[in-house]
Amino acid sequence: PDPSEKYRKNVAGKTAVFNGEEFILEETDWYLLDLFRLWWRYGISFIRLQMWVEEIMEKFMRIYKYQGHGYAFSSVEELLHSLGGSGFLNMTHRSLSESLLELGVSQRFIDEVIAPVMRVNYGQNISIPAFVGAVSLAGAQANLWAVEGGNKLVCSGLLKLAKANLIQAQVTTISPHSTQYQLNYATLTEKGSEFYDIVVVATPLQSSVGSGISFQGFEPQLPDIAGSYHHTVASIVHGYLNCSYFGFPDPKLFPFASVLTTDSPGLFFNSAASICPVNISTGFRRKQPQEAGVYKVFSPQPLDKPALKTLFRSYYSVQVTDWQAYPHYGSTQDLPPVVLHDSLYYLNGIEWAGSAMEMSSVAAKNIALLAYHRWSRQLEMVDQKDLMHKIKTEL
Ligand SMILES: *[C@@H]1O[C@H](CO)[C@@H](O)[C@H](O)[C@H]1NC(C)=O
Ligand SMILES: *[C@@H]1O[C@H](CO)[C@@H](O)[C@H](O)[C@H]1NC(C)=O
Ligand SMILES: *[C@@H]1O[C@H](CO)[C@@H](O)[C@H](O)[C@H]1NC(C)=O
Ligand SMILES: *[C@@H]1O[C@H](CO)[C@@H](O)[C@H](O)[C@H]1NC(C)=O
Repeated sequence: PDPSEKYRKNVAGKTAVFNGEEFILEETDWYLLDLFRLWWRYGISFIRLQMWVEEIMEKFMRIYKYQGHGYAFSSVEELLHSLGGSGFLNMTHRSLSESLLELGVSQRFIDEVIAPVMRVNYGQNISIPAFVGAVSLAGAQANLWAVEGGNKLVCSGLLKLAKANLIQAQVTTISPHSTQYQLNYATLTEKGSEFYDIVVVATPLQSSVGSGISFQGFEPQLPDIAGSYHHTVASIVHGYLNCSYFGFPDPKLFPFASVLTTDSPGLFFNSAASICPVNISTGFRRKQPQEAGVYKVFSPQPLDKPALKTLFRSYYSVQVTDWQAYPHYGSTQDLPPVVLHDSLYYLNGIEWAGSAMEMSSVAAKNIALLAYHRWSRQLEMVDQKDLMHKIKTEL
């Protein structure tokens, strides 16, 4: 958003998959060898997977063209359908493992490659919906980039660019008032109230998450937003990795920067990875395993002392974030609505189709367009069918 923002440089690092006892998959320095090993171990599975993900991404990318032409969608279903037809919708209702098996991907490949990626990205297993899985597999293979200084600068940069009047407060109630909405809010020191023509809620509304917002005076009542969010604990540990635990008594010989895990009973963590600063200066190098480094560990439960002492020879500090990170996916979840009321919109429903920063930006732009078109009664810009064709003939 802000042209002064820069890409953060990538720091190379190898990945391996751990099953609780040993590494079952290890990345090497040599791309061709990796390819050969994958081929040897999994046969045609990884090519099938690659083609599947590429096809889905190609269709998904249509959204940028549609949005560039100003088209908007009144539901996540309409949005997905316009990108990939009933195939995309079906993918939000079927499990990833079922879809991949049908595609001819082997069970072994699913257990040893796909499951570890789902564990690190969503803390969940291969029963999550196929569309969510495809989104996170795209993230696992493409060259992801980050903003120097941290991705949070995207948000502050956008706010600045929009010249928005930001009130930092907790919204307590939203109620309809003729054609407007009244928002009551509270800061630490005072309470306030404002009227707005259009309201966008951009926080999960599942009661188990506890947004703190109460909707009052809506007749009929607003629909309940079902489901719950999945707890993940992120521990940032400054210390010495216990390479012995991974079968490398000499840390100097430990070649991996990140460890993924299979879905094995008794494993107390989902992933562990050495992390680097938000800004990478020239000449920066990743800390070696024999040095004290900063690691990010994802786990379903907080790491207790014995767990920390298993993963780390010793450590200086541990910072724990226990949060409701992403939806707890069932395989038959309905997608939440985008339009809650005339001019009251809900962003987070998109997370149930795929939870990623990029998905949320797509949802945000969609709501901006949708709110504008509905406000100015340009309904031909909403839920249009056959957009691929329309856009071609518009040019
Ligand atoms: C989606 O599912 C429906 C009903 O199960 C089926 O009729 C349709 O063929 C499926 N579409 C695709 C593209 O798989
Ligand atoms: C995946 O996890 C869910 C609970 O989140 C569980 O019901 C299901 O049996 C698990 N599936 C597999 C294949 O382990
Ligand atoms: C990182 O880079 C950003 C943008 O270039 C800059 O604003 C920030 O001060 C830098 N932070 C650190 C810790 O060097
Ligand atoms: C490190 O891992 C080894 C092997 O699993 C284990 O015996 C040891 O207790 C662990 N912790 C430390 C602090 O070395």
